[in-house]
Amino acid sequence: MNKTPARLTLSRRDFLKLTAAAGAVAVGGHLLDTYAPWLNDEEQAAMTRQPFAREEAISQQLVEIIRYATLAANGHNTQPWKFALRQDAIEIHADTSRHLPVVDPENRELWISLGSALENLLLAARAAGYAPTVAYPHGADLIRVQLTLDTPQGGPLFDAIPLRQTTRSVYDDRPLPSADLDTLQSLPLEPGVSLRFLSAPAEMETALAAINEGNLRQYADRAFVEELITWLRFNKKEALAELDGLYSRCSGNPTAPRWLGRMFVSGTKPQQQADADAEKFRSSAGAVVIVTAADDKAAWVRAGQVYERLTLQMTALNIKSALLNQPIEVAELRPQFQTAIGLDAAPQLLVRFGYADPLPRSMRRPVEQVLI
Ligand SMILES: Cc1cc2nc3c(=O)[nH]c(=O)nc-3n(C[C@H](O)[C@H](O)[C@H](O)COP(=O)(O)O)c2cc1C
Repeated sequence: MNKTPARLTLSRRDFLKLTAAAGAVAVGGHLLDTYAPWLNDEEQAAMTRQPFAREEAISQQLVEIIRYATLAANGHNTQPWKFALRQDAIEIHADTSRHLPVVDPENRELWISLGSALENLLLAARAAGYAPTVAYPHGADLIRVQLTLDTPQGGPLFDAIPLRQTTRSVYDDRPLPSADLDTLQSLPLEPGVSLRFLSAPAEMETALAAINEGNLRQYADRAFVEELITWLRFNKKEALAELDGLYSRCSGNPTAPRWLGRMFVSGTKPQQQADADAEKFRSSAGAVVIVTAADDKAAWVRAGQVYERLTLQMTALNIKSALLNQPIEVAELRPQFQTAIGLDAAPQLLVRFGYADPLPRSMRRPVEQVLI
């Protein structure tokens, strides 16, 4: 005999009880996440940022150099890299399984991320006592860094590697001392890369209008929001399980169970996001656009190197920074943004900077997980 499944009918009171129970479970889960002493996110973040071990055997030194490379800035903290140890060389390979097809369909930001890792790798190699030379084997999706023995050379940018972070909070409005601005403006660059500092209020407003428009488009795009959610780590357990992605606490947000975090992010109105970022941009001392003459893989890598160098220099001066790339990421807005701020070359990244307290540090996978 065919039996029709009984429909579950709930009275209003039952329904309220059930929602209260789900809420209690969520809050319980959240408290457990927050106070679970056996899950130590801060210890994990600190472990990947231990001081560089200089006196180790050569093979261990190469591992240390790679560890410092992985501390670089990278899109959505996907860590889209793999490293290969070769005779007298380290190769950085693109890990395209970690690409971001919606926000970065051309892998432009992926290659910028590899450029940032390259910059850290070069600084660490010099500090460990090598003279590095960079080559891009023809047609291969990798960067080769040849290492020859030299005298060790550290310095403030190398020292800043474990301290650098993307600080996404509201800043405190303080302007930069002109000497620090001069230091940033005279940063050594890479061929074909330039920096366009936006300091006049009118220029900042032009950039802000473009950021607003970018936010409205990105947050109205379901695919963009879904991709972002995939890389969000809403609580300690998720952050420690994956050791990648955007962990709530590092953006100054509370932790939550995934279902609640997803509900919150999915429900964010494009205008809410635009308003939140407008407040952050207005609280910043200034902004700078990283610009390249060409718009190809080699240019993206160099842009990444300059971005990392710039944020390391800022870190050394106790200046915080974060990215608001919306008007460059949205393909239709990029040429408009370029014209609006009077650039004759391709904008790659839009960086805001200023002063704020540090936020918790982001996760990284250990070197064993990124070795080929
Ligand atoms: C190419 C590139 C694009 C990025 N885009 C953004 C962005 O649009 N918004 C943002 O808040 N952070 C952005 N970031 C910063 C990363 O999310 C950040 O580097 C990563 O989460 C690791 O955190 P950390 O920089 O604090 O180590 C970007 C970084 C790179 C290299």
